[in-house]
Amino acid sequence: MLNLDFHPTGRHFLQIPGPSPVPDRILRAMSYPTIDHRGPEFAALGLRVLGKIQQVYQTTGPVIIYPASGTGAWEAALTNVCSPGDHVLMYETGHFAALWQKLAVRMGLNAEVIAMPGADAATGLPSSYRAGVQADLIEARLKADAQHAIKAVCVVHNETSTGATSDIAAVRKAIDAAGHPALLLVDTISGLGSAAYSHDAVGADVSISGSQKGLMLPPGISFHALSAKAIEAGKKASMPKAYWAWDEILEMNKTGYWPTTPNTNLLYGLNEACDMLLDPRHGGLPATFARHVRWGEGVRAAVRAWGLQIQCAESAVYSPVLTGVVMPQGVDADAVRKIIYERFDCSLGTGLGKLKGRMFRIGHLGDCNDLTLVAAVAACEMGMKLAGVALAGSGVHAAMEYFAGNPAPAVKSAAIK
Ligand SMILES: Cc1ncc(COP(=O)(O)O)c(C=O)c1O
Repeated sequence: MLNLDFHPTGRHFLQIPGPSPVPDRILRAMSYPTIDHRGPEFAALGLRVLGKIQQVYQTTGPVIIYPASGTGAWEAALTNVCSPGDHVLMYETGHFAALWQKLAVRMGLNAEVIAMPGADAATGLPSSYRAGVQADLIEARLKADAQHAIKAVCVVHNETSTGATSDIAAVRKAIDAAGHPALLLVDTISGLGSAAYSHDAVGADVSISGSQKGLMLPPGISFHALSAKAIEAGKKASMPKAYWAWDEILEMNKTGYWPTTPNTNLLYGLNEACDMLLDPRHGGLPATFARHVRWGEGVRAAVRAWGLQIQCAESAVYSPVLTGVVMPQGVDADAVRKIIYERFDCSLGTGLGKLKGRMFRIGHLGDCNDLTLVAAVAACEMGMKLAGVALAGSGVHAAMEYFAGNPAPAVKSAAIK
């Protein structure tokens, strides 16, 4: 038996912004026997999860499930809707947006990057890594594209490297205001299931997600929610496609099957995860989203009390999924994380790409509660003090005050009488 737990007792605090902790209920569901993926029982499972994931996406259109991580679904989206050399417009909100652009370049696409220019005066960090997507920049760029060469606009809904949740409906409006036919491809890999998002209401064409964040599953499956326009574009696009091609998957999915071997046990887990997120006794999706907003508020109260900067500088787009904590100049954020991991058995997200060493990230997504977050904040506070970071006050106290003073709205539970 592998022993991966650094400390001998209690549970490790997995406070990275994904993979997020997998609830016991989901782990148990995943331990059901692996069944014949061409047999009758499987079709019932397939149809059930395809229906439930549509509800989580808040769409009436089809949802594709791939046995791949989020990166696979990024590639699959571009593979399905693009032709070789196509021009795509990608907005750089952070490291994940930058990685998606790099992937598009490797696929031979003409991947143009736009972003808010400049650096932030207080921290020297790139301005676009402290904000959400500026839809007006997209609108201006599309208006200048009179020939309609740009085939798709690609944006990240919840930028996991910074903690900014962009207004995707505003991006849709910008595309429409420019009178431009480009498809809207949205990465909601760390948004879905935690941050409010409706594929249909925002008017996205492809909404990409992954299992290991708000859906509270282990890594390994990823998703596309599709608009009718995306499916039509997929029929005409000429990028070579086989494994990722939507047409065969959509056809087989009608009867609950997949053309290739699906990830049966992750689908058991997905069924359970959707039941948890959609459970009307716990308030369904609206209560889930409200829970995450409240957790984010509590964690940010802690960061403010410490006198430190929140990575996302725009309060309108604070992420309900994670909070980035910027270290004072000269403090290595990874050295602080190392102390917190070794002394307090708590994993925090590292600073990625341009933010390496400058900040760490506290995840408040999925299977959390007030006390796991107070504990995570306590681990941060103790670790920062041990690392010699000067703190203005107690973040733990501020988080406790916030959570105690702002109770979650009561949700009627039929389970407890
Ligand atoms: C916003 C976002 N996009 C894409 C990815 C890449 O997904 P994966 O690592 O599952 O391939 C991640 C991973 O954390 C992410 O957070």
